[in-house]
Amino acid sequence: MHRIAVVPGSFDPITLGHIDVIERAAGLFDELHVLVVHNPGKTALLPIAQRVSLIDQAVREAGLPNNITVTSWSVGLLVDYCTDVGASVLVKGIRSQIDVAYETPMAIVNRDLAGVETVFLLPNPAHAHVSSSLVRQVAALGGDVSPYVPSAVANYLQARTE
Ligand code: PNS
Repeated sequence: MHRIAVVPGSFDPITLGHIDVIERAAGLFDELHVLVVHNPGKTALLPIAQRVSLIDQAVREAGLPNNITVTSWSVGLLVDYCTDVGASVLVKGIRSQIDVAYETPMAIVNRDLAGVETVFLLPNPAHAHVSSSLVRQVAALGGDVSPYVPSAVANYLQARTE
């Protein structure tokens, strides 16, 4: 059986914590789709196409396996994308109890809607404090985000603030 999983998220921008989860997930499934999805509850910094491009560069920069596809989804439910591509599993990284509380209702709704299960992975604790929102804030105030993001992202954010 060919197992396809999706790692969905805002990725605004992708961090080293995301890369860690993507690498672990790529080892567990035959095909992995990293999917940039609009989160209606968040105000975005980067355009979706830019986020896809940065993830593409970061995946190559990290030398991740070639079973990874990077794309975006902006029409309808996340599970509609899963159905379209034949994916039966969503993968999310869990850093803390706060993440568990945030992710649990979404996982249950996605299972109710389309029978898509969510698998939670525990990332490297070294990245437990890293979030896209923190990266956006540090970058906006002129701080160095290079310890937290792939170099393609650090370079892009640096160029934006110059
Ligand atoms: O990285 P994020 O912002 O925590 O990711 C959340 C995201 C984008 C995966 C979530 O908001 C989502 O699934 N949006 C798509 C809309 C949808 O399908 N909603 C119903 C199920 S939660």
